[in-house]
Amino acid sequence: MRITLPFDNGVGAELVGLDVASGLAADDYAFVREALDAHSVVVLRNQEVEPRAQRAFAAGIGTLRPLVYGRYSLPGYPEVMMVSNIKKDGQDIGISDAGSLWHSDGAYLREPDMYSLLYGVQIPHRGDEPLGDTLFASVCAAYDGLDQETRQRLAGLVGLNSFVWHLEKKARQGTLRRAPLTPEQKANTPDVEHPVVRRHPHTGRACLYVSEAHTCGIVGMPQAQAEELLQRLWTHIASPQFIYRHRWAKGDLVIWDNCAVQHLASFDYGDIPRLMHRTGTFGPRPQIC
Ligand code: OGA
Ligand code: MN
Repeated sequence: MRITLPFDNGVGAELVGLDVASGLAADDYAFVREALDAHSVVVLRNQEVEPRAQRAFAAGIGTLRPLVYGRYSLPGYPEVMMVSNIKKDGQDIGISDAGSLWHSDGAYLREPDMYSLLYGVQIPHRGDEPLGDTLFASVCAAYDGLDQETRQRLAGLVGLNSFVWHLEKKARQGTLRRAPLTPEQKANTPDVEHPVVRRHPHTGRACLYVSEAHTCGIVGMPQAQAEELLQRLWTHIASPQFIYRHRWAKGDLVIWDNCAVQHLASFDYGDIPRLMHRTGTFGPRPQIC
């Protein structure tokens, strides 16, 4: 029997009764998609997820997306990225700086990611305490929590989202740990415009779609004014009432909806090894609300 157990403050739910290793049927995937529409983040615990099965899972709930950063993929699995601080021969085996700023995956792309699936292979601990939590903030709840005047002010605004600016910001923050973009990668990731408030493609809810990681300006607005507005929205999004904090255990598979939530990595584990496998699905072009 499949059960959905919603978390306390309205963001996220645990799904019980699915066993990824035994393979999922079409109606299991429909169940997961419905849970994602209702709760934005879903957690499946105690799973054995081989890379092949994780790829199949992503393809079951959406259209599997190849990676922008090919060099961090799992050997033989171009769609499965390693998120890790582990080094081999002095080199990072995976991406080691993912999520140091609140963000939505792929927001710097014309067609950002819809779902991300992150599987806990190796979770760092200090004593019994797991480290490396991932935080999720509901940007639908955050929009609903804005006052009427701010909502009116945001109507019709378009944000400028930039991968290049993102990497520069991480470098200034001191958290950039990946190879610089090649001219070809730079050319493949031009700045893109997305609505500041986007309509969720399934639920129709209004979602704030500006992030401290990727949104560097607002089209047609003087920069100082845009920065002030963006800063206010980022602070609002990170308010405790919109957040689910996932405390990882090995075998957790966490799936989130990148239109409905933003996420942040906590980076409190230093050199204690952490390894996650990540896959993603294509999303539609964000539509204005
Ligand atoms: C990601 C990401 C956060 C984490 O993989 O997209 O942001 O806690 N990860 O690893
Ligand atoms: Mn991410």
